[in-house]
Amino acid sequence: ARAAIGPRDLAGIRVVVTAGPTVEDLDPVRFLGNRSTGKMGFAIAERAASRGASVTLVSGPVSLATPRGVTRVDVRSALDMQAALREVMGADLEHADALIMTAAVADYRPAEQSATKRKRSAEPLRLELVPNPDLLAEVGAARKGARPVLVGFAVETADDAGIEAYARRKLAAKCVDMVVANHAKDSFGREDNRATIVTAGGAEALGVLSKHSLADRILDRVAERCR
Ligand code: CTP
Ligand code: CA
Repeated sequence: ARAAIGPRDLAGIRVVVTAGPTVEDLDPVRFLGNRSTGKMGFAIAERAASRGASVTLVSGPVSLATPRGVTRVDVRSALDMQAALREVMGADLEHADALIMTAAVADYRPAEQSATKRKRSAEPLRLELVPNPDLLAEVGAARKGARPVLVGFAVETADDAGIEAYARRKLAAKCVDMVVANHAKDSFGREDNRATIVTAGGAEALGVLSKHSLADRILDRVAERCR
């Protein structure tokens, strides 16, 4: 059980957390999405707020209650999330001390969105998809110096060595401080998670933790870097 009263070691720190999936509309009734439920990001937002941080949670469509003391911004698509992050963090990222990207941002969106419902036909349907921007990499490239602290998440289907190798690649490609990597089967929809935190300094396998405990471990690392 979590203590009701704990350290307020994140007081004065502005944390932006993204959570959930993004969904990419095909027409007014259909979308492309993924299996993210938002639990990890909501757990981080809750723990960060309990520890005294000022928290903004940018969330895709999920069915979770907003944690106490957290400012929530709801978005739908990756492009919506990009716009929300710009608004919340400021053009020069000046309004955030840390960005924790747990969101499962859709890598592609339909090239065309139909304003009306697409009608069924007997013919095969080919969808053209275009790449979405990499929101975390954009912030990584725009950041000057050590702020905001940047944390990425990566869900993979590789073995432990492969997961770590992918995480290391993402750490470099996105210019971030930390990648929290895990296996799809250990993560989606669960209350716990088995994650590895990868930084330039090394990798730490954390074993199975509740999402709230994992949140605290990640926030400990963020707090260190914000000092
Ligand atoms: N991410 C992002 N924008 C995207 C895709 C991913 O900001 N368009 C962020 C995610 O929120 C996450 C991190 O990048 O924090 C890693 O996401 P992941 O999907 O694992 O990485 P990708 O670079 O999309 O690689 P993959 O081909 O494995 O999907
Ligand atoms: Ca991806």
